[in-house]
Amino acid sequence: MPLPKAELHLHIEGTLEPELAFELAARNGVTLPYADTDELRKAYDFEDLQSFLNLYYELMAVLRTEQDFADLANAYLARAAAQGVRHAEIFFDPQAHLARGVSMGTVVEGLWRALGSSEENHGISTRLILCFLRDESAESALRTLDAARPYLDRITGVGLDSAEVGHPPVKFREVYEAAAALGLRRVAHAGEEGPPAYITEALDALGVERVDHGLRCMEDPALVERLVRERIPLTLCPLSNVRLRTVDTLADHPLPAMLDAGLVCTVNSDDPAYFGGYAGDNFAAVHHTLGLTEDRLRELARNSFLASFLEDDEERRAR
Ligand code: HPA
Ligand code: ZN
Repeated sequence: MPLPKAELHLHIEGTLEPELAFELAARNGVTLPYADTDELRKAYDFEDLQSFLNLYYELMAVLRTEQDFADLANAYLARAAAQGVRHAEIFFDPQAHLARGVSMGTVVEGLWRALGSSEENHGISTRLILCFLRDESAESALRTLDAARPYLDRITGVGLDSAEVGHPPVKFREVYEAAAALGLRRVAHAGEEGPPAYITEALDALGVERVDHGLRCMEDPALVERLVRERIPLTLCPLSNVRLRTVDTLADHPLPAMLDAGLVCTVNSDDPAYFGGYAGDNFAAVHHTLGLTEDRLRELARNSFLASFLEDDEERRAR
């Protein structure tokens, strides 16, 4: 029986497994530049975040209809349930779909076909987090938030993802203020490839409640002290860090040192179809390779519910 856990850092487009990519390509008459799933898997050898993002955006071409998004989310939820996930806060990247002529309604309503019945079908409660692409303009982010207005009953929060370096959080101050005014929760990727200063900026300029990744905080002791004092959760993704070469090997991952420092860490899968594992696989990897004890794993699982956007009573029921 896998440890019950919440997944707080998961890009739904990053759960597109090669088999489903080819199935959707056939259904939608899209030709992928790979002969078969084996050849596609060979492309999963990334040098950095950008080399992954290139493939991630390329494969999205197969996602066209509400049913495609529903099938994608249902496939993720089934895999996550098998690995002990009881609650999932799911990122999606509407700008990447709007740019291809796929509407906000198609994406959100499609995802909702799966999320709306996830508790009954998979035993997983869910929340949706709309991410802005930080390598697009601030104006584009504002237009995207506007396009999401009819769907705000389905959306819990906003996030910030895509190519980090050169795109500091402060660029998105205005759209985060607008999101807060709409009652949306706020998170942002920071300190994955970008410097520790981006983590500070995400807290101060964007008012985020959680930091996605946040790994590079370890380079700044004063920042670590602040994150500990303010109990800001970090959504770490160990297998992602290895695949995107943010750390050399899993054995070098700072997670044990981060826990020892008193940081509120959680373990998540990021883009599991691309990075070699779902939430439970990430837990197993840090257990075996980093030697984290059962107590530490339970701490990580407990943190995941505490750091979630579940209301208190829901949070208790999930555990
Ligand atoms: N980092 C930044 N942006 C992303 C990622 C990631 O790991 N996955 C999908 N978009
Ligand atoms: Zn991510």
